[in-house]
Amino acid sequence: MEKALVVNNLKLYYYTSAGIVKAVDDISFDLNEGETLGLVGESGCGKTTTGFALLGMPTPPGKISGGEIIIDDQNIVKFSENELRKKVRWEKISMVFQGAMNCLTPVYTVGELMTETYLQHRPDTPKDVIYKQIIKYLNLVGLADDIYSRYPHELSGGMKQRVVIATALFLEPKIVILDEPTTGLDVVVQAQILNLIKELKQNLSISSIFITHDLATEAEISDRICVMYAGKVMEIGTNEQIYGRKNLHPYTEKLLSATPLLHKRVDELSFIPGVPPDLIDPPKGCRFYERCHVHMDKCKNEEPTMKEIEDGHYICCWRY
Ligand SMILES: Nc1ncnc2c1ncn2[C@@H]1O[C@H](COP(=O)(O)OP(=O)(O)OP(=O)(O)O)[C@@H](O)[C@H]1O
Ligand SMILES: [Mg+2]
Repeated sequence: MEKALVVNNLKLYYYTSAGIVKAVDDISFDLNEGETLGLVGESGCGKTTTGFALLGMPTPPGKISGGEIIIDDQNIVKFSENELRKKVRWEKISMVFQGAMNCLTPVYTVGELMTETYLQHRPDTPKDVIYKQIIKYLNLVGLADDIYSRYPHELSGGMKQRVVIATALFLEPKIVILDEPTTGLDVVVQAQILNLIKELKQNLSISSIFITHDLATEAEISDRICVMYAGKVMEIGTNEQIYGRKNLHPYTEKLLSATPLLHKRVDELSFIPGVPPDLIDPPKGCRFYERCHVHMDKCKNEEPTMKEIEDGHYICCWRY
């Protein structure tokens, strides 16, 4: 299968006055062309940080501290800021930022906001070409032409999220990262946005990374799932391997037990005791050791390595 993206040993650390936060610490995964890869894990495990790293755009005081991000046979970690802006962001990979629909500047119309984004990436494009492209993508996400001249406060949450998705797509990148695109929307609108993303995937044959803390949503949308915990990748598997619930990482098992799924009674839900470790001084063994219900002595001091336990199913745990 052709790869849209390959990530090798990627690290993104935040150099804060309190110490170095190892938010993304030596992670590796890939994204096949045309697939949706789900990135899941508890709050603070490094999902958004991974997304920013893939754009080559760490937020201060963050820096990519090692590893490779390969798109079209090129390691974009080595690119200058100028090259990233001209050749990578929005040209090859874009992102629907977490909470972006709540941050649309209220004094500009949708058309003005989208034109501005377009010009930032392709400054010399004539206005009529941009206009046509905006209308095409507003229509593609199910919005009428008149949305172009409306202000964000005139739109519902679902409409704003569609505008944000259109803005991530209208320069036609081959990869899009969607960071919690349905969080904060009511369940009906959530379902509409999920259906829209599925349709776009089929019509545009785009590869996507779908970030959420919600495994039930991920089951709906993703072909494969990548589970993160405390800055590390703990498990990668196909939708069937993960939701089939055989041979899982203990963390994934616990996450699934805490997720309301259709076939499960609500009184069967459990929670994961404890909290994730401090990422300034993470444990030297397995980062899940303290909260793991099946840990062994070895897990405390020795960091597990990733193993392929069946075709395409990778687990980072000493039990395997
Ligand atoms: N700009 C920053 N400066 C310092 N630390 C940061 C910064 N941004 C994120 N972090 C830290 O990096 C870690 C990972 O954060 P990140 O936002 O990537 O998590 P997340 O998995 O996206 O969480 P959520 O599900 O809540 O969105 C956290 O410990 C967070 O506090
Ligand atoms: Mg996040």
